[in-house]
Amino acid sequence: VPVAVVISGRGSNFVALAEAAEAADYPAEIVAVISDRADAVGLARAAERGIATHVVLRRDHPTRAAFDDALDAAIRASGAEHVCLAGFMRILGPEMVARWEGRMLNIHPSLLPAFKGLDTHQRALDAGAKFHGASVHLVTAELDDGPIVAQAAVPVMPDDDAESLAARVLAVEHPLYVAALAAHLGRSAGRPDATPVFNPPLP
Ligand code: GRF
Repeated sequence: VPVAVVISGRGSNFVALAEAAEAADYPAEIVAVISDRADAVGLARAAERGIATHVVLRRDHPTRAAFDDALDAAIRASGAEHVCLAGFMRILGPEMVARWEGRMLNIHPSLLPAFKGLDTHQRALDAGAKFHGASVHLVTAELDDGPIVAQAAVPVMPDDDAESLAARVLAVEHPLYVAALAAHLGRSAGRPDATPVFNPPLP
């Protein structure tokens, strides 16, 4: 199944998906990486792998809806049938979300529904959370709010700071997104055995 990955930065989740997709039995093929930032490191990592890249800048479009239309056009031009948002730092408008309903995933660095939005690691520390983690969910019009496909939890250690906690979470984001995309595509293809996953095996 052709999948586009939409990023704003480093792209480590994209790389994890692209590496998984090299296996013959993985259901997705990553056909494009699209970024709203020309300097996103993930674009270079896509180019190294021979994956098509595309930049859609917000400043080239007068409104968010026009930006969304350009992003939508880039996704469609890639031939993608599903979309993975992976460190994409913009909020999509309701029309764009509706167009991709049931076919767009996001990864969020918290155990949703806790800690929607930004700065999740510091907020988990400030709250005294003993577990933290990451969630892959279907994208809906509300931010970080769609049905959860899969989650992975990690412990919060007494001496953690936001950086150390973020690193522990990122290590589980990669296998989580790989497992969640496979489960999502299986269920989209009508295989109910492709069940949601919780804490997939770690590397
Ligand atoms: C990840 O922590 C993701 O959950 C969050 O932004 C980060 C992106 O990392 N939304 P990368 O660009 O995939 O390396």
